[in-house]
Amino acid sequence: MLSGKKILIGVSGSIAAYKSAYLVREFIRLGAEVKVVMTDAATSFIAPLTLGTLAKNPVSIDFVKDSKSGEWENHVELGLWADLFLIAPLSANSLSKMVSGNSDNLLIATYLSAKCPVWVAPAMDLDMFKHFSTGENLQKLKEKGVHVLEPREGELASGLEGKGRMEEPPEIARAVYEYFTPNSILKGKKVLITGGPTYEAIDPVRFIGNHSSGLTGVLLAEACAERGAEVVLVSGPGSHKTKHPYVTTYSITSANDMLEVVQDHWNKCDLGIFSAAVADYRPAEAADQKIKKKEDDMLIRLVKNPDILAWAGSQKKDDQYLVGFALETENEEEHARQKLERKNLDLLVLNSLNDSGAGFGHSTNKITLIRPNNNLTKFELKEKSEMAKDILNAIENDLK
Ligand code: CTP
Repeated sequence: MLSGKKILIGVSGSIAAYKSAYLVREFIRLGAEVKVVMTDAATSFIAPLTLGTLAKNPVSIDFVKDSKSGEWENHVELGLWADLFLIAPLSANSLSKMVSGNSDNLLIATYLSAKCPVWVAPAMDLDMFKHFSTGENLQKLKEKGVHVLEPREGELASGLEGKGRMEEPPEIARAVYEYFTPNSILKGKKVLITGGPTYEAIDPVRFIGNHSSGLTGVLLAEACAERGAEVVLVSGPGSHKTKHPYVTTYSITSANDMLEVVQDHWNKCDLGIFSAAVADYRPAEAADQKIKKKEDDMLIRLVKNPDILAWAGSQKKDDQYLVGFALETENEEEHARQKLERKNLDLLVLNSLNDSGAGFGHSTNKITLIRPNNNLTKFELKEKSEMAKDILNAIENDLK
């Protein structure tokens, strides 16, 4: 996430300053270190105590901290501290001061001495935004390398409708996150991942399932998010979960539940990685009440579950890339190749139960990647987190 990154948020006098609280929260949630510098005018819109508490750092407002001791706020240090200076909201007044260099407050003085990238999110009323001076000033900032997060169209605090609303905090945080993620072809891509087991109900308390823990799905989802992708993880009832802010998890139970979520998302996605251990069969009927023991033996009739990966393969468009998994015990490569073709995949991740340390219940795995042109890449036994990176590196390579 953004751990280790230092974000300085500048808050100027606009009603959108109330959104700065959400913005600070977003960056803290992403693991960044946050400091806030405010103009005097901004303190009329939002209390420094609110922003300071959320940022876990005192807010800087005045040049002089203590007039008796002469302790002052070092704007140069503040500017040097930051990896990114984000002024949000940026009022028309602060905008013009940024252009003219009028540093009569700490925020603008910090801007003038900042060495890091500077981003601004303007927020003002419709007519102020349309004024020629605003347009000219924004243009000058852009020419000087300041990144402008364009305001949105919509209802403004004045009641007017139009352009001037500050970009929403989650979108700003997402843009900053993408800025700091390594350069990957997965940046901004939508990825659908399945993971974990499925449980197929026999009655309200019993099910048919398997030992999958969901670790591989979670690690793949987190690795994609770390490369800037937006991830939907459809996860069975495994023990592993993710709290990554850019992974949206749908927790499902059965193969039919999983299919439903996959059908809702697949056509909007660029990449699918289907690592779930889906039960191939389910009881033909799940009893409404707990089944009581009676006879010495009991038969449960099973019916075939939908093949979710095969469905995605049958719907795959030219610009979509689909990855499947295969766990084999014999004739591994041959079976895997057949699966790749049958399910219309671009890449198949093969692991064999004959390799010790591979498969369910281990933190390690040993995989072979197979492509439609018969190209094979074999990897050593390694931690599943490293395996996830190997798989993504291979996908990136193919998408280039
Ligand atoms: N898969 C799926 N839906 C199913 C079954 C499997 O999406 N109903 C996916 C898995 O997530 C995995 C791949 O298909 O990516 C595994 O292929 P599969 O043919 O099911 O492998 P096995 O279960 O091992 O099947 P077989 O018994 O034919 O070897």
